[in-house]
Amino acid sequence: MDRKNGYWDMKKELIFDFSNLTVEMVGEHGISDNLVNSLMDKAKAIDADMQKRRKTGELPFRDLPYADIKALTEYAEKARGRFENFVNVGIGGSALGAQALFMALCHPFHNELDSRPGNGMRMYFADNVDPDRLTGIFDVCDPHKTLYNVITKSGSTAETMGAFLLVKNILEKAVGSSWKNHIVITTDKEKGDLRDIADSENITSFVVPDGVGGRFSVLCPVGLLPAACAGIDITELLAGAAAMDKRLRSADVPDNPAYLYSIYQYLLDIKSGKNISVMMPYSSGLYGLADWFRQLWAESLGKKHDLDGNIVNTGPTPVKALGVTDQHSQVQLYVEGPYDKVFTILAVDKFENDCLMEPSYKDKSSLGYLGGRSMAELMEAERLGTIYALTKNKRPNMTITFPGITPGTVGQFLYAFEVSIVFSGGLYNVNPLDQPGVEAGKIAAFALMGRSGYEDKAAEIKDGLKGNDKYVK
Ligand code: PA5
Repeated sequence: MDRKNGYWDMKKELIFDFSNLTVEMVGEHGISDNLVNSLMDKAKAIDADMQKRRKTGELPFRDLPYADIKALTEYAEKARGRFENFVNVGIGGSALGAQALFMALCHPFHNELDSRPGNGMRMYFADNVDPDRLTGIFDVCDPHKTLYNVITKSGSTAETMGAFLLVKNILEKAVGSSWKNHIVITTDKEKGDLRDIADSENITSFVVPDGVGGRFSVLCPVGLLPAACAGIDITELLAGAAAMDKRLRSADVPDNPAYLYSIYQYLLDIKSGKNISVMMPYSSGLYGLADWFRQLWAESLGKKHDLDGNIVNTGPTPVKALGVTDQHSQVQLYVEGPYDKVFTILAVDKFENDCLMEPSYKDKSSLGYLGGRSMAELMEAERLGTIYALTKNKRPNMTITFPGITPGTVGQFLYAFEVSIVFSGGLYNVNPLDQPGVEAGKIAAFALMGRSGYEDKAAEIKDGLKGNDKYVK
């Protein structure tokens, strides 16, 4: 299975079908055209602000599709020839984008293949400090054959810095002084201890561009280096993102699919109480995109303060589900439970493979009708059945159709959602680019692990954790 021989075609664009979010389709649980139109002045103002901020360099993620990736591509090509394994040491935005690309664009059992497309390295993600999982990764990756990619924009995240110490130690024991050749670092160009280490130890490094936050970094070296090392065509990925940029720029606000996505999601949350946003790909490969979306939505919109300093405690809750698997787990709740959800279904028009069911047992009613049909047909029937059930039960839902799962279509998706979330920030009047709650967690880890300068915070946290013995059984 070689995805480069797939059906990449720049004319094939993602299709956004918003129909089932409307009053016509789901009655009082949907959104009227009037309501959408009532936001047009606000939408135009947000668009103008975003365009201005793009020009003044405040939204640098928007220009990532046009970045020069020559050095990165050359490094990855050499690394693919030299190493067998790639361990991604990073967390949050420093892992989720790369994981989503890997899941979508590599063979589902890439690591088990003897010969991997594009000579891609085996990929492992050390995105938790769970010692059992880390040990598991170290068990299966012979350090002599492994490249460790340490990624942290801040250069100080405890989880990543801790894992770096483990990796350095393993490498020093295994390969001695050449340990530095088994590490590549992606971090800020100036700030943070990891930058100092990269420079002073002479370790190859790549830069997270200024102003590109973790969850907006998939299209810079944070996501591109792992992708290129896995054998993914990152030129096509960026071309897809650039095509989406062009599409979003040329569309009027009411026709801009990224803006419309935000507008419907916002109105359903604010006006209709649909404060849970479920993304449900009908594709195992696209499940990582739902995980990536979850972080993008949660960290960008989940805010205590609005831009005027008011306490708002706002933000819809993003949830991921997998079609068809979760039809047998979640869909009961989705169809009959509270009217508090909006659904984004991801559909695939043409899977790269299909599996035909043998026409056997024609006389058995539970098998006969399946013979001669394909798994892609069954997937479509299940997806359409769920959409029908959701719509019939007045559950607002929409579908984004991928013509196929290719670097280009995935690039379109990522870029559209990054633009959409910044636009959503304007609708909610919050800053979608900061994450004070995440930073608070990082500080708590520093304090409780004894980092110097955090003694008061440690005392405050310990006091706050006292609890009450009365309730401990
Ligand atoms: O989106 C974000 O900013 C966060 O999720 C970060 O990516 C995450 O906390 C990791 O941060 P860093 O890359 O600085 O280690």
